[in-house]
Amino acid sequence: MLLVTGATGNVGRAVLAELAHKPVPVRALVRDASRLGVAAENIEISTGDIFDDASLRRAFEGVEAAFLASAFSPRMAELHLRCVMAAKAAGVSRIVQLSGVGADKHVCCARALQWLGQIENTTQEAGIRVTHLRPTFFMQNLLRFASSIAQQGVIAGPFRSSKWTFVDARDVGAVGAQALLNPTHAGQAYTVTGNESLTYQEVAERLSKVLGKTIRYTDITANEARGRLQASGASPVMIEATLEMWDACASKLINVAPTNVVKEITGKEPRTLEEFATEYKTLFLEGAPFALESDEVMR
Ligand SMILES: NC(=O)c1ccc[n+]([C@@H]2O[C@H](COP(=O)([O-])OP(=O)(O)OC[C@H]3O[C@@H](n4cnc5c(N)ncnc54)[C@H](OP(=O)(O)O)[C@@H]3O)[C@@H](O)[C@H]2O)c1
Repeated sequence: MLLVTGATGNVGRAVLAELAHKPVPVRALVRDASRLGVAAENIEISTGDIFDDASLRRAFEGVEAAFLASAFSPRMAELHLRCVMAAKAAGVSRIVQLSGVGADKHVCCARALQWLGQIENTTQEAGIRVTHLRPTFFMQNLLRFASSIAQQGVIAGPFRSSKWTFVDARDVGAVGAQALLNPTHAGQAYTVTGNESLTYQEVAERLSKVLGKTIRYTDITANEARGRLQASGASPVMIEATLEMWDACASKLINVAPTNVVKEITGKEPRTLEEFATEYKTLFLEGAPFALESDEVMR
């Protein structure tokens, strides 16, 4: 039995989709089964909350390998720790853990990188065999600009002229599924990226071509970005964590070249930005509400 947590999220949902119809039983831990969106004869649903001990015991029972993911939040290491403890108690032999590029519990300049380092620490200290997935920035983050792209033809951010190595979260999920299926990935840490690094100016140019209209990138100060995040309803801690992450990339503290991980592990090329934009063209043309479902905000 394989367990997928975070199964309604960007990456967990993709892990589940990759495992659908495979000759292996899979369990999805979800808070709300109506949000799952993936169904197959080999997938069973375990409804529950990671903060609830009984839910965790039920979800991890009889599991050989588990995919751990949670939302980007100050509590993500706590969520992972709870899962790791439940996995250990249930005798789970392997974990595939969604972390992020730059994970480092000792780094001083970006608390989100510390949180990711603390996530990785939970498995290291438990002594369970683990595969760490360290993706770069998800293309899905760009959907948060869909409304301003649709209405003003603008992406605005404090991103300066630095290069960002995006990856489609579904490619991260595809790597995660392979790591769950194949125990030889245990003990590895994978930097999961798309196939190129782009400035936001270049992102805007690519989007312009796909959407058939001019999209401009406008550089704004961190303080202006803070105001926009405040207006979106994000909490103060998430706003500062997000600004720090952006600054870490803009100032090249996180500076990751594309890797071959997606191709090597899944056998497929990672999705390009153009492919992503084409798939989500309607959203970029018509806009989408900026919705903060919890304390989560783009990185
Ligand atoms: N965005 C990026 O560019 C980026 C880059 C590198 C790394 N990362 C890392 O990737 C992770 C986020 O992955 P994602 O985008 O796939 O997440 P996501 O789309 O935000 O989904 C989070 C998932 O966790 C579930 N969850 C949250 N709290 C839970 C709880 N108490 N009990 C059970 N399930 C719970 C959510 O369930 P509900 O549907 O019920 O809310 C959802 O399925 C973060 O650790 C982030 O640091 C992100």
